[in-house]
Amino acid sequence: MRLISIISVFLVLNNVRAANILGLFPHVGKSHHTAFEPLLKMLAEKGHQVTVVSFFPQKTPVANYTDISLQGIAEIRKEAVNLQKFEKSNKLINLLGMKRFIIQALAFQGLSDLALNICSKLVRFPPLLEALQFDYDVVLVENFNSDCVLGLLHVHAIKAPVISVLSSPMIHWSYSRIGLPDNPSYVPTMTSESTSQMSFLERLENTAMNLYFKTWFRYSIQVKERVILERRFKSRLPDLEDLARNVSLVLVNTFHSLNGVRPLLPGVVEVGGMHIKNTASLPIPQYIERFLNESEHGVVLFSWGSLIKTASIPKYKEDIIVSALSKLKQRVIWKYEDSGEEGTLTGNILKVRWIPQYELLQHKKVIAFIAHGGLLGMTEAISAGKPMLIVPFYGDQPLNGASATAIGLGKAISYADMSEKTLLDGLKSVLSAEMRLSARQASKIWKDRIADPLDTAVYWVERVIRWGDQDPLHSTARDLNFIEYNLLDVAAVILLAIIMIILILRIVIMKILRLISGGMKKEKLH
Ligand SMILES: *[C@@H]1O[C@H](CO)[C@@H](O)[C@H](O)[C@H]1NC(C)=O
Ligand SMILES: *[C@@H]1O[C@H](CO)[C@@H](O)[C@H](O)[C@H]1NC(C)=O
Ligand SMILES: *[C@@H]1O[C@H](CO)[C@@H](O)[C@H](O)[C@H]1NC(C)=O
Repeated sequence: MRLISIISVFLVLNNVRAANILGLFPHVGKSHHTAFEPLLKMLAEKGHQVTVVSFFPQKTPVANYTDISLQGIAEIRKEAVNLQKFEKSNKLINLLGMKRFIIQALAFQGLSDLALNICSKLVRFPPLLEALQFDYDVVLVENFNSDCVLGLLHVHAIKAPVISVLSSPMIHWSYSRIGLPDNPSYVPTMTSESTSQMSFLERLENTAMNLYFKTWFRYSIQVKERVILERRFKSRLPDLEDLARNVSLVLVNTFHSLNGVRPLLPGVVEVGGMHIKNTASLPIPQYIERFLNESEHGVVLFSWGSLIKTASIPKYKEDIIVSALSKLKQRVIWKYEDSGEEGTLTGNILKVRWIPQYELLQHKKVIAFIAHGGLLGMTEAISAGKPMLIVPFYGDQPLNGASATAIGLGKAISYADMSEKTLLDGLKSVLSAEMRLSARQASKIWKDRIADPLDTAVYWVERVIRWGDQDPLHSTARDLNFIEYNLLDVAAVILLAIIMIILILRIVIMKILRLISGGMKKEKLH
């Protein structure tokens, strides 16, 4: 009897009635959506009604999942990054030692124009505005280069709790919205290339990046998006930062054993790897399978992800890469857009247009992965236990490369300074028995979790639906202003007190000295 009632309480607690869930993902990066889609689909499968506003509608409709497609309002970013941009930058920039900072600042620059352009279209996009007429139990919003939709939710008086989702590690402006410490003395920013142990210069760079990118986001995006929204709806809006500082939960695509240990809160849940299916599902094309089967010494997989256009690589650099790879006894599968229908084979290198990446990484013949350090590829490699040679370009890639190196999952080399020697040396260490072993070890630690990351994400979304405001998960640090948070007011009072004490002591000591010398004078007179 007791047991039955316990079970029924358990069922009530763990069952959320079918909820109305709204997902707002107004960014054009394909890989971002790849990270979120499995969560949205799983929520639909669990019986919730899921409405998803994004650039990536389902090709075949899924039950309980309604797409509102943003296609056409901005260009999808796929194979859009030209590699010519990453040639050795000019000497002056190198001299100042700020090359990395400047590359990152330039890479982010385009994101503000993109955000403002999309925001100005969203505020006049009828299908979205119609969807905002309904009531929701929870809203999932990507935390990346825009807060426009937070303003739209406010305008439409949608009071549902908001969950922030990241396909990257925590971004500079993610921390303040949940009240999470990001002290740059030991928390590497998303654009740095450091682990949590930093030298003086690294801390200097980390601090500068932290301040710069927060300020950049505030003034290049947040403030301007508010203007776009106020013009469109002809009313005053709260500061978008204040709306952002009301999110209930942050789901971040990291896990400490890969991305490093940093402070967390109940409301910051690491779900790194949630996009990875437990079993292989995409078929490996016949011609690739044959190439794998016939390899004697295994295969190295080579892909710089969905955003970079590999075929834009300068000829001299491609020659360096081909020359280095052709010296391997292993075969190589290279994701490269300009290749034949059934791949293009040159020596031991097979160039193919598209690869089922995770399925290949899991294949026993694939023994290593040359990558750009994007987080999706990295989580797939660690899941499959395959070591990586990482050639980072921008965004979180240098940071991810440093994290992978720190745990023995791989090695990072520079693209700008890449030579046949650095490439071959890198490959030699990545293909060594020690690194292959440590990658398998890292994989076991990565997989050892209290629950599968996708189930974890679903649990937390449903938990927010169940309790909302009744179960706060943030820290009140987010309600403090800069002076309060950094205790500058307290420090000022303490400093004042110390000065007062010194002044008082000085007066007292002077008095005593005068008394003593007065006494001595009297003695002399006698
Ligand atoms: C859709 O949701 C209903 C409940 O609302 C559920 O019974 C059903 O299994 C879901 N369908 C699919 C295909 O997931
Ligand atoms: C903050 O979020 C809660 C729901 O979690 C909502 O009820 C409240 O209105 C929001 N506050 C603002 C200022 O948007
Ligand atoms: C590759 O090898 C596997 C088993 O070793 C076999 O089942 C498969 O048919 C082979 N594929 C091709 C295309 O040769």
